[in-house]
Amino acid sequence: MTGTLSDRAATIMARCDELATHSEEPDRLTRSYGTPALRAARDAVAAWMTAAGLAVRTDALGNLYGRLEAVQPETKTLLLGSHLDSVRDAGRYDGPLGVLTALAAVEGLAKARRQLPFAVEVVAFADEEGLRFPTVYLGSRALTGMVSADLLALRDAGGITLAEAIRDFGGDPAALPGAQRDPAELLGYVEVHIEQGPVLEREGLPIGVVSAIAGQSRFSISLSGVAGHAGTIPMALRHDALCAAAEVILAIEELARATPGLVATVGQLQVEPGASNVVPGQVTFSLDLRHALDTTRRDAVATLEARASGIAAARAIELDWRLGTENAALSCDSATLSQLAGAITAAGFPVRELVSGAGHDAVMLSRLCPVAMLFVRCAGGISHNPAESVTTADVSVALDVLDRYIAELATTSG
Ligand code: HGY
Ligand code: MN
Ligand code: MN
Repeated sequence: MTGTLSDRAATIMARCDELATHSEEPDRLTRSYGTPALRAARDAVAAWMTAAGLAVRTDALGNLYGRLEAVQPETKTLLLGSHLDSVRDAGRYDGPLGVLTALAAVEGLAKARRQLPFAVEVVAFADEEGLRFPTVYLGSRALTGMVSADLLALRDAGGITLAEAIRDFGGDPAALPGAQRDPAELLGYVEVHIEQGPVLEREGLPIGVVSAIAGQSRFSISLSGVAGHAGTIPMALRHDALCAAAEVILAIEELARATPGLVATVGQLQVEPGASNVVPGQVTFSLDLRHALDTTRRDAVATLEARASGIAAARAIELDWRLGTENAALSCDSATLSQLAGAITAAGFPVRELVSGAGHDAVMLSRLCPVAMLFVRCAGGISHNPAESVTTADVSVALDVLDRYIAELATTSG
């Protein structure tokens, strides 16, 4: 990839469009872990990496890497990248924009035969969203060695375990320890991502730098009542699991609306037996709770579990409140953040720090090395939605900032 910043940005956009054709659903973009769609997207990125002259490999989970060696092979490695998987009915930039902007920066270095005092690796994580298996950051988790036996035993909707899915995807669960990275060899991790929020657009800025990432708690909540005939059970004698769930969900919304900075989402809900003439006996729903402060989030969890218990007891319904995953809030590395801020200033833009309500692979990588992120303005702040969009001009700003950051790092860490 050669040419001007806007040529290179146009290539990034075209490649995002190409990756968007790889979906597991015919009429919308859905690309979950281990699917043929993800493999096709990964193969396309691998081909671009190979064409750029990078050393290309995949790890035991199926993450993809393109490496540009340093002058001295035993030096440290800078990781740049994001994820290739998506949510259901997704936009085309959440994840791929970060992978492809990183690739464009490294292609530029390779083209210029720029010799750096550190290696640079573009990483495309095979799963961040946790659409197929109830996990988050599965791909980047593999680099920390935290893919446990419990995780490997998780089953998808079809009953396939994660371990089987890894093997089907060409990986090897037994070799996962080999995917682990030694913190001593890592210089840092920088991720470019769409903002997925309205701030940059509202302030007329193309780019921002992420100071912190909100903590999140994800739950699976089940309410077990008594199924019954819709026509014969008097209302006063019902133990309707769906009405109980509705009361709990409204209590969740009420607390989130009343607590500044708290966001709560119930995105999935299953009703059993799911017939129109049967009083629901069993309901299971998801809860995603986030806040920039861990204490506030944890207090909200305790309050909501107590409220749900009270509602269930009053209805003589059984409650099962099960924690799925939990990640503490993250403060990005201040030195990396100020280096990115310096690059933004050098590119001619004001520095706008943002807290990310969305989770990112940087949360996992922060267990290994200094991390920071660049946010790119997205139209209406829309994301996790096919209407997600960015402009080529803003992508060229992000690429310019990333180029400058790497060049500056080369002078200071040489
Ligand atoms: O849910 C999130 O915050 C991210 O999109 N995985
Ligand atoms: Mn996402
Ligand atoms: Mn993402």
